[in-house]
Amino acid sequence: MSNKKQLFIYYSYTGNINSLIPMLCEELNIDTLRIEPTLAYPRKEELFWERYNDEINNKLTPPIKEININFDDYDSIIIATPNWSNTFPPSIRTFLTSGYLKNKTIIPFVTHDRNGEAGIAEEMTMLLEGNNVTSALVFQENQLTKEQVNEFFNQLEY
Ligand SMILES: Cc1cc2nc3c(=O)[nH]c(=O)nc-3n(C[C@H](O)[C@H](O)[C@H](O)COP(=O)(O)O)c2cc1C
Repeated sequence: MSNKKQLFIYYSYTGNINSLIPMLCEELNIDTLRIEPTLAYPRKEELFWERYNDEINNKLTPPIKEININFDDYDSIIIATPNWSNTFPPSIRTFLTSGYLKNKTIIPFVTHDRNGEAGIAEEMTMLLEGNNVTSALVFQENQLTKEQVNEFFNQLEY
């Protein structure tokens, strides 16, 4: 891995990925960018699932909060996403289809609670044509140690 700064882009709804940020910042040379929908999900469960099902089933791309990052500063970008119904959350879909990323090395991180990576990295590859998507680092919930992070990057060829 080069020592050049990487960008760590993530979406975290229940906070698992977010809780790993301090450890990741210690182990990796990264800047972080959190993706968030412009319109927060409703707290009321019934309304949450109504919106969830509509967005996931129809592969919608809801608006996300403004991004103030110069992507030219980074050659390599980590995209960390939870598994939501074996795909990524709609806000990540919005980001991936917005055309921000060209000629980058993309490193997927996928967290889940039972289904694993479930083809999410492959779907990312399809949406990110013109970029080089590597193998994914997959972990459950917030169970990711600095040893696993270092081992992953040591074996990654890019
Ligand atoms: C709305 C929602 C849907 C989810 N769907 C799945 C799923 O289909 N399969 C799975 O393995 N995990 C699923 N999960 C679990 C998350 O992928 C897992 O808890 C992850 O660590 C959450 O990361 P976060 O806390 O950073 O958002 C779901 C979680 C949420 C909140």
